Amino acid sequence: MEHCLCCLKKIEDDFSYHKSCLKKLFGVEKLPFLNIKSTELISKISENIGRMSISGVQIKALVKLNKKENIIEIVPSGGTHILKPEPSEYPELPQNENICMNMAEALGMNVPPNGLFYMIDQKICYIIRRFDRDAAGQKIHVEDMAQLLGLSSDSKYESSLEKVGAAILKYSRIPYLDLIDFLERVIFCFLIGNGDMHLKNFSLISIDGSYQLSPCYDFVSSKLYLPREDESALTINGKRNKLSLSDFARLATYLRVEEKSFQNTINKIINSKALLIRFLDENPIGFKRIDHLKKIILERYKRLESE
Ligand SMILES: Nc1ncnc2c1ncn2[C@@H]1O[C@H](COP(=O)(O)OP(=O)(O)OP(=O)(O)O)[C@@H](O)[C@H]1O
Ligand SMILES: [Mg+2]
Repeated sequence: MEHCLCCLKKIEDDFSYHKSCLKKLFGVEKLPFLNIKSTELISKISENIGRMSISGVQIKALVKLNKKENIIEIVPSGGTHILKPEPSEYPELPQNENICMNMAEALGMNVPPNGLFYMIDQKICYIIRRFDRDAAGQKIHVEDMAQLLGLSSDSKYESSLEKVGAAILKYSRIPYLDLIDFLERVIFCFLIGNGDMHLKNFSLISIDGSYQLSPCYDFVSSKLYLPREDESALTINGKRNKLSLSDFARLATYLRVEEKSFQNTINKIINSKALLIRFLDENPIGFKRIDHLKKIILERYKRLESE
């Protein structure tokens, strides 16, 4: 039995994608042709780099579906999706991101449609739909936490999760709901060994003129490649390492999240353990680093459960 390369769930026929998953991602049910060679990607991206509205450290391209020909193309502007190839220094990063996003989705988080695709030369890449473009391709305003806290991109690690939470309280139109989602993301990222949630990986999106927490993005297990990386990119309770349940509880208390709401969030994550482990054991896409990922997650669960 095959697995869908978007949602990673089983698929009855030998097609590699659910029609419904392609529809959610691209608005069409037929698999679009990815008319891009991984070797051409770098030169095409550098042509567009100055004009690109999306930053970040990893190589990425803005792409768009040419609906008439059902081809995904790199575009200098008006890109509706982000394409991330596999970096040579981080093997299987596309699979890593897709797996982590699917685990987040399984926990009920707000995850944009995304999936894995093969380029002409059979190299894999990860594609995610942009949440800062509406159905007509018009721009939706987004501010990341570096912008909201008045810091430059160079200072994206020089802050704390308390400050991010305080900014959510200050600017969000639904601060309490967003704070719970924020805490859930922070604990989930701890769980998967994502030590790179800096200020630019949290954003608020403008809906009808007021802000709320944007959908999730950039969830990867960075610890798979960087075993000695800090556990958290931003400090929590003054710490970046040796984190435990009490640090997350302190963050919640600091942000005046009710004890009961925090407990519900923790319970939800703890109660999802069997689900996540089953998913990892199934290893739907033969991810080579699956045992390592499972080990990280089990060790992190221990720290969340042991108080
Ligand atoms: N689905 C999306 N819709 C809209 N904007 C997005 C989406 N995903 C990412 N972005 C924006 O693009 C930027 C770069 O994306 P992302 O963080 O995934 O890339 P990265 O290069 O892996 O980042 P980093 O520099 O954190 O390693 C993000 O900071 C965010 O502003
Ligand atoms: Mg990022």
